[in-house]
Parts: sequence; structure tokens; C-alpha cells
Amino acid sequence: MQDDIDHILIDRHNIAQRVETVASQIMSDLLADAKGEGESLEITLVPLLTGSFIFAADLIRHLPVKMKIRLLSVSSYPGTATSSRGAQIKDDLSYLPASLAGQHVLVIDDILDSGNTLKLVSKTLAAMNPASLRTCVLLRKQRPEAMVFPVDYVAFDIPDEFVVGYGLDFNDHYRNLPDIVTLREEVIAQAIANEKAAGTTES
Ligand code: IMP
Ligand code: MG
Repeated sequence: MQDDIDHILIDRHNIAQRVETVASQIMSDLLADAKGEGESLEITLVPLLTGSFIFAADLIRHLPVKMKIRLLSVSSYPGTATSSRGAQIKDDLSYLPASLAGQHVLVIDDILDSGNTLKLVSKTLAAMNPASLRTCVLLRKQRPEAMVFPVDYVAFDIPDEFVVGYGLDFNDHYRNLPDIVTLREEVIAQAIANEKAAGTTES
């Protein structure tokens, strides 16, 4: 697995530092909300699976506030795809409460690329009438669609290249790498060739 890495883009120490900073931004915005409404603060977190599970796990331990966690499964990069194939919510939506009325909702995703995933999820959740709806991503790719997409918190802006590690996968692998890295081109080419040979490539 280590041999497949081209280079480290963001190392684990930088990630840990930045996660703490983003968490304190989130906390101060939430406290401002609570003050305005004179309510006791509680939030509903919606981490998008699978890519955000490590980021969400680290982030929530820096959010000292009462919270509910609703995991939501969304897919857009099946198998060896390295560009979006359109987002799809995979869960039966009945898993979410029928209404989010009065709740402060924070959606957490791993990476903002085409924006299809967050657009779909935000639209779905906004229709459930939350008191506030914010979005937080670990990474944002520096491509035009992503840079204009409205998102509340971004931990890192990165070049428009395919990355894995710290929850992000290629073909379901590499999520356990502690750093955010790029893969060698041959590794991606080989996986795509293997998939073609097995006749499983999606069109
Ligand atoms: P979007 O819907 O195009 O914004 O894509 C978001 C989803 O695509 C993310 O939640 C990831 O699961 C996946 N994705 C986009 N770029 C990458 C990448 O560089 N590496 C791994 N997964 C990615
Ligand atoms: Mg994802």
C-alpha cells in the first residue's frame, strides 16, 4: 500500500491542527445562533459516508456540545471512477427523522469536487425545515464548480487532483492512510485495466 503513494499532500499533523481550528469556528457560530435564540444548544450532525467517517470522528471530539449523529450514505464515484458519475443518496430516507424543524444541522463531507453530492444533500435536508443548515468539507478542489459552490467550512483547498487517505478511497482502498496523498499514475491505470479485463466497468 505504501508503495502506491506518489506524494503526501497534507500530513497527519497539519490535518489534526486544522480540524481543531475548523471545530472552533463551528463552535463559535453555533454559540452565536444559540444566543440569538435564547435556547440551549443542540446540533444534528450529518456525516456523509463513507468518505467523511474519519474526519467526522476527529471533528466531533472538538465539538463540546449536545449532538445527534445521523449518518447518510451517498455515492458518486463508483469503483475505479476518478470523476463524479452523479450523486445518489443510497439510504432509505426514512432513516432520517421526518422533520428537522428547530434543529441546527451540520453536514460533513470529505471533499467538494463537482458539488453534486452537497447540492443533493442540502436540497433534501433544507426541505425538512431545519433551524439552520451548514456544510463543512475537509477538502475543496480548486476547480471552478467547487470554488463557486456555497459551503460554510473548508479545512483545506487542494489542487484539482485525485487524492486518497484519511477516509478518502480509490476503488474502496486507502481510506486507512493517516495522511492525504496522491497515488502513482500506474496504480490508477492498473486498477482501471484490471476492472476492464474483468468486464465490470460501468459506462
Ligand atoms: P462531488 O459530488 O463531485 O462534489 O464529489 C464528492 C464525492 O466524490 C466525495 O464525497 C468523494 O467521495 C468523491 N471524490 C471526489 N474527489 C475525490 C478524490 O480526489 N478522491 C477520492 N474521492 C473523491
Ligand atoms: Mg463521499
